[in-house]
Amino acid sequence: MLIAPSILAADFSRLGEEVNRVAPYVDLLHVDVMDGHFVPNISLGIPVIESLRAATDIKFDCHLMMLNPDFYFAPLRKAGADIVTVHLEVFPDPTEVAAKARAEGLEFGIAINPPTPFSALEPYMELCDMIVVMAVHPGFGGQSFIPEVLKKVENARNLVESNDLLTDIEVDGGIGAANIERVRDAGANVFVAGSAVFNAADSTEAVRHLRTAVESRDEA
Ligand code: DX5
Ligand code: ZN
Repeated sequence: MLIAPSILAADFSRLGEEVNRVAPYVDLLHVDVMDGHFVPNISLGIPVIESLRAATDIKFDCHLMMLNPDFYFAPLRKAGADIVTVHLEVFPDPTEVAAKARAEGLEFGIAINPPTPFSALEPYMELCDMIVVMAVHPGFGGQSFIPEVLKKVENARNLVESNDLLTDIEVDGGIGAANIERVRDAGANVFVAGSAVFNAADSTEAVRHLRTAVESRDEA
């Protein structure tokens, strides 16, 4: 079970400090890059990733909500990205873009928006280190979780199990202590949480709380 706080909800004037406060308790740092074209918002880019890399060793899970993300793979790698996730809505056949990411030494993920069916991603599962099931429409933090996407998480988990794949299944958007167990039970093993972590009075306590919830088992 991997917890991946999204820095989108952090205080950007104190980003290094915010990240270092949670880093000892989490597995990945989810970095939301938005271009103002694929999504109607602009967030952060390569210079910020580079500065953050100097402040922490944590693995960077870069969620590229943008058109032409492959154009930036080399600079992203150089800045310190570890995983790049592109959207299937941008690359309906992601075979080539996956190869480009790997050629740069990056791990590769594919994300699907709430309206995109799992069947569109299914043929490409083996290209991915991780798939990302969006539980909100991408572009903004702090939105409500869309429970209907859990069916796709179940389908993905079944496929991973039945084919002995090692693919991580990440769910992104609207996750907090109230629903993280439900997301785990559907089959996710990577949990992104932005506002639930960085809008909490104590972000360290918030990630520990998420960890406790996700690792709890209600034994019958
Ligand atoms: C949405 C982003 C998410 C988001 C998560 O466009 O991809 O990663 O920041 O934030 P919360 O947890 O607040 O939904
Ligand atoms: Zn994201």
